[in-house]
Amino acid sequence: MPGLLFPEGFIWGAATSAYQIEGGHDSDGKGESVWDRFTHTSSKILNHDTGDIACDHYHLFEKDIALMKELGVGSYRFSISWPRIFPDGRGKPNQKGLDFYRNLARLLAGNGIQPAVTLYHWDLPQKLQDLGGWENREIIDDFEMYARTVFEALGDDVPIWMTLNEPWVSSFVGNWYGGHPPALTDFPTALKVAHHLLLAHGKAVRAFREMQMKGEIGIALNLNPVYPASEDEQDLAAARRYGDYNNGWFLDPIFKGNYPAELSGWLSERLTLPEFSAEDMSLIHTPIDFLGVNTYASSSILHDPGDWPLQLRSARTGKARTHSGWEIYPEGLYDLLQYLHAEYGGIKMMITENGAAFKDRLEEDGKVEDDERLVYLYDHISQAHRAIRDGVNLSGYYVWSLLDNFEWNLGYSRRFGLVYVDFATQERTIKKSGWWYKRVIENNRLVAG
Ligand code: BGC
Repeated sequence: MPGLLFPEGFIWGAATSAYQIEGGHDSDGKGESVWDRFTHTSSKILNHDTGDIACDHYHLFEKDIALMKELGVGSYRFSISWPRIFPDGRGKPNQKGLDFYRNLARLLAGNGIQPAVTLYHWDLPQKLQDLGGWENREIIDDFEMYARTVFEALGDDVPIWMTLNEPWVSSFVGNWYGGHPPALTDFPTALKVAHHLLLAHGKAVRAFREMQMKGEIGIALNLNPVYPASEDEQDLAAARRYGDYNNGWFLDPIFKGNYPAELSGWLSERLTLPEFSAEDMSLIHTPIDFLGVNTYASSSILHDPGDWPLQLRSARTGKARTHSGWEIYPEGLYDLLQYLHAEYGGIKMMITENGAAFKDRLEEDGKVEDDERLVYLYDHISQAHRAIRDGVNLSGYYVWSLLDNFEWNLGYSRRFGLVYVDFATQERTIKKSGWWYKRVIENNRLVAG
């Protein structure tokens, strides 16, 4: 059979996150999250969309597992809503919240689908935000308590764990660009938040080991392949700064025990860095089992003296773009994996998110012919294969996303799913890319569309 064969046991998955699909925003004792508050009060969400109902997965999860079974998905990456478990951020856990995820994990396992759980995909309990959120160092203990509670409840049913999803986004989009809650625009605060997130990650990993959990634990980072916009010295340096900022700021502490030296030096000439004690760095450096790579687009970077404090910006290239406006450059995935492999000592990796938004339409014949997504996925999976062939330790690939869902500031206007969701009726339709992905999984081989 033609097509690229993947190693035996390669994990083929699909991913979602709690706030983006669950709905049930106040069901069964769930507390308010920062995203509930933000969507209800901020003007920063397109069409004032909210996740109150989203894909109503909280009530339709059995139907969604049946869809996954139909697709043949080997693993499902989902996140836990922290305020479903701790409605008040602290205190007594909400048993109904734990039951929901236990039922979900068991039904998945019963259908031969490995649950892959992310503890935190941005939906902080509002009650903790009221105490200062990630800016307040006390949150590290709150996160540890939450992690221990979830490990205890789901430990027997979940083989794959991730502490955080994209702490770069929580730190910088939330506290520097002001796009996500708490919508601040203060760079030093963003650095402090990043440090606390990394510490919380380290604490959860230590708890996981102490509790002798079976299964593996890692973290999902948003990582971009970075290219200088020209060979100009200043652009080369700007591209290095961007790489340190977007990728290295989280990778280096976790895998090397320190923040990137060049960027730390640059920043400390322009602002006061938070204190990073040796004890903190050693906690963050706690060994993990795998790196989750979330990756969508490449970045071409140039020097921009007007930009404080990083003095850089993205250059526009002629490359095609997705409906999110992100550059499509599949070879970037290969470059990124090779870079991570070389820089971080051959670590085990999984692509925990990759995918694209396109303008999908449900046709009158009931079909969604999303050829652009199919080609995007084909090209990226083919680069993943090339990386494996060249020695990269890549053990899985998760499409973002299983379902069309709430795309944060862009509400329901951007569709990423393998499955089309009609948000008025909650009807699901497997797209052409979904049927194609099913054949890839069945054959453990990249087949043509
Ligand atoms: C996030 C997802 C998001 C996706 C597409 C990632 O940054 O983890 O929650 O929907 O990208 O934007």
